[in-house]
Amino acid sequence: TAGGSDAAKRRAGERAADEVTDGFVVGLGTGSTTAYAIEALGRAVDDGLEIRGIPTSFQSRRLALKVGIELTTLDAVEGIDLAIDGADQVADDPAADGYGALIKGGGAAHTREKLVDAAADRFVVVADPSKLAPTLERSVPIEVIPDAHTVVADRVRDGGGEPTLREAEGKDGPVVTDNGNLVLDCAFGSIDEPEALATRLSRLPGVVEHGLFVGLADATYVGTDDGVAVRDY
Ligand code: A5P
Repeated sequence: TAGGSDAAKRRAGERAADEVTDGFVVGLGTGSTTAYAIEALGRAVDDGLEIRGIPTSFQSRRLALKVGIELTTLDAVEGIDLAIDGADQVADDPAADGYGALIKGGGAAHTREKLVDAAADRFVVVADPSKLAPTLERSVPIEVIPDAHTVVADRVRDGGGEPTLREAEGKDGPVVTDNGNLVLDCAFGSIDEPEALATRLSRLPGVVEHGLFVGLADATYVGTDDGVAVRDY
């Protein structure tokens, strides 16, 4: 997704890639910030680093193949050493509930991202300062099986949210995810209790996965104009 300075994104991505050492299985997130990490890993592989990557989307799979990272799958490994992934918004008030909670899914990849990020021993978020907010307030993407989009939308409205079916550009009709499903972007205003909302959304029949990531990130690397600021959770 757009926004933020490329230099800041690059610093964050490259800093996360620096943590990868020989033998690592690495979760490869989606988006423009993680792309800098994947490209840095590709250069390290050219220099002899031996790793295997698990992509979280068609986009990250394609980029990883292009830069020469050997790929594997979740069911073929014992575990994931490190997942590197971007975010659309990062809760950045240390005094509030849900410090370090994320909204993801702006690229409709959050189902596989959550699977891979949650399976990793360590999950590092890479971001630029435009992603930080005292309280999460962006729309929450919810991946739904196609038949369920109206009933899930009704339940979201019952819960005080405002759902919008995500429409595709360059195609008549909705965005279809890598898993063949649809996405409802759901505005809830300011999300003061992300964990409670996450639990409510997970319970709705027809929801494959929602884009609230609560208690999953171990750190956020925030690229700035002259360095990287680290948040440890
Ligand atoms: C994909 O669905 C999202 O969760 C991305 O990880 C998120 O949009 C971050 O992308 P950028 O780094 O391009 O902002």
